[in-house]
Amino acid sequence: MAKSSQEVSRFDAKSTNRDEELAATSVVLGRKAIDFPEVTSAPSESKARVISIVNQKGGVGKTTTTINLGAALAEMGRRVLLIDFDSQASMTTGLGIKPAQIKEQYGSIWHLLNDSSAKITDFILKSNQPGLDFIRGHEDLAAAEAAFVTELAKEHKLRKLLLPVLDLYDDILIDCSPSLGTLTINALTASNGVLIPMECEYFAVLGLSLVKKTIERVQENTNPNLAIYGILATMFDRKTAHSREVLALIDSEFPDELLDTIISRTVRFSESTVKGEPITTYASSSLGAVSYRRLARELIYRGGAN
Ligand SMILES: Nc1ncnc2c1ncn2[C@@H]1O[C@H](COP(=O)(O)OP(=O)(O)O)[C@@H](O)[C@H]1O
Ligand SMILES: [Mg+2]
Repeated sequence: MAKSSQEVSRFDAKSTNRDEELAATSVVLGRKAIDFPEVTSAPSESKARVISIVNQKGGVGKTTTTINLGAALAEMGRRVLLIDFDSQASMTTGLGIKPAQIKEQYGSIWHLLNDSSAKITDFILKSNQPGLDFIRGHEDLAAAEAAFVTELAKEHKLRKLLLPVLDLYDDILIDCSPSLGTLTINALTASNGVLIPMECEYFAVLGLSLVKKTIERVQENTNPNLAIYGILATMFDRKTAHSREVLALIDSEFPDELLDTIISRTVRFSESTVKGEPITTYASSSLGAVSYRRLARELIYRGGAN
């Protein structure tokens, strides 16, 4: 997966406030700036590329990344499906579904996993962003670990479930729970690749080897073609040396995986969650929105979205 060497201006996003300038790994680490081309052509493959958003730590930006990367891909005219695969169902609330509605098991991915007569296409919901669809989560997903224990091929349940929608979408993103158990193994088994959001905190780096071990286990056992599409640095604070040090550390340990796009820490993400919509529509020209659009371009450039 080659990186672009095309030289561009120091920051490739318009910004009026210096503190709000786009951070990029190349720039923060003092290298030649990278730009990723605008995407104008249709996806090259007819079947959806499935991407799991994984990290066993909570609060690192998995759900935020799923929603906003999905919205950015949809803005480009791609057909995108998001799956809420976390019992906390925060992706579902983040897309505007009321908590009372989430209590209903019918209509959720959990119901689909348990009722073989249910049709996945009946469970697809529309977000406020055209082209961005989703299947909602349910709190009982937390019971999956125990519920699937006696099932044969329990790791393949989600993969089989998604087969009928692979022709309907260009990108399918799975928002995983903060664990590396049965649900996440199911997501990884169903995926072409993994995106790992990682907050710019020292302890977060230590947890990364566990994620990589789980990916290796899946590659050996249930999905030999599973790729790592990248590590995404999140909650980056350009004003602290700590954020830069952590970025340099990730870069030295995982130089091929660390993405050039960085997501900075900004309160706009929590605000957009409260509003129940992606930051790309809530604050379309904000740094967060610009960053997730750049991530979408980088992912397509690196081959992580077809
Ligand atoms: N880049 C960011 N800057 C500031 N807050 C963020 C950022 N990304 C996510 N958040 C907020 O942090 C919290 C945890 O993020 P979330 O995406 O839910 O993490 P996870 O899914 O990994 O648990 C949420 O309240 C979210 O709005
Ligand atoms: Mg989450």
